Amino acid sequence: MDAQPVGGWIDPVTASADIDLDAYAANLTALAAHVAPAELMAVIKADGYGHGLMACARAARAVGVRWLGVATPGEAMALREAGDTGRLLCWLYGPEEDLTALVASDVDVSASSVEQVGDLVAAAATAERTARVHLKIDTGLHRNGAHPDDWPAVVGAAAEAERFGAVEVVGVWSHLASAEELDHPSVAAQLDAFDEALAVARAEGLDPRTNHLANSAGALQLPRSRHQLVRVGIATFGVDPGDGVAASAGVALRPVMRLRAQLVNVKPVRAGGGVSYGHTWVAPHDTVVGLVPLGYGDGVPRHAGSVAEVWVGGRRAPVRGRICMDQFVVELGPDAQDRVGDEVVLFGAEPAPTAEEWGRVCGTIGYEIVTRVGARVPRRHVGGTPTP
Ligand SMILES: Cc1ncc(COP(=O)(O)O)c(C=O)c1O
Repeated sequence: MDAQPVGGWIDPVTASADIDLDAYAANLTALAAHVAPAELMAVIKADGYGHGLMACARAARAVGVRWLGVATPGEAMALREAGDTGRLLCWLYGPEEDLTALVASDVDVSASSVEQVGDLVAAAATAERTARVHLKIDTGLHRNGAHPDDWPAVVGAAAEAERFGAVEVVGVWSHLASAEELDHPSVAAQLDAFDEALAVARAEGLDPRTNHLANSAGALQLPRSRHQLVRVGIATFGVDPGDGVAASAGVALRPVMRLRAQLVNVKPVRAGGGVSYGHTWVAPHDTVVGLVPLGYGDGVPRHAGSVAEVWVGGRRAPVRGRICMDQFVVELGPDAQDRVGDEVVLFGAEPAPTAEEWGRVCGTIGYEIVTRVGARVPRRHVGGTPTP
């Protein structure tokens, strides 16, 4: 049990993001069983999607997750500096970045171009050890990854480097554009393009054994995308990658983050009283409002103004007026008995609103809702298997 708040410049009693590491462990275990015999990589980039990089890494390792995935070298090195020694892949870096520390620290690194393979060869020479590389092909997301026209040159360069021991090609990988929509034409096209890229790599003499394409949606509902490894982020945090995707795959996910605060002010507003900046909401009747001490400075989307709901006193209460930088107002209703100090849940597990619901009403996705929770909000981690 690790209930010590992590970070934040708000008193954790006043407001916190509570992270249920038992739910995280249960999601990881359920997802790992669902994708077997493929293996699961827990993706914990962006501070574990807002849930805390280190706490998530420790919790994942404690339930036997062998692979962790992050975007940046900084994230990877932070894990190594904190003592994590397991398999770890990092995939997004700029042309000026020196990859030596990653290679020296036994981090697997992605390469999407001949230049990046060359950078890894140089890093391997400086670190005096073989660099483990995952070669990325762009199968149709048109984001990162080698263009198919450039792929033979990329795999050729990697095969050459492998022959003289500078690199070991661990796998070929790519990323899906629309796996939450199974009938989207990109899905079949990407699956085929990935198989073709693998065939080209093998024809160049490579023997990539840990190939990966699936994100959460692919891991859940697209068996052909699973290959040997799946990179799962959002589903491990108990947020559905798309409407009904987890349920249709028969996987029950538990929300890991609960964003809560205390009411810090409660008072009546007369009919005709405007609430918050710009008076965009005017009370149509005499009512009672409560003040929640979190705002867009804490990652509460400004788009939540007058559209989102919170959970307070065993019922839903609507957000009224604009979200401010540090606070927003909810309508507690004419007969409200709520008091200063009562707990408000912005999102968490049902029947409270979920991160998915906040995403929907704010015109974004549950991913953004949890990931954007700001540095000012303390994280309180509860549960989880203690590590020795
Ligand atoms: C390259 C890559 N792989 C895997 C993931 C995990 O995706 P998801 O959170 O949908 O599981 C992400 C997240 O955006 C990603 O960028």
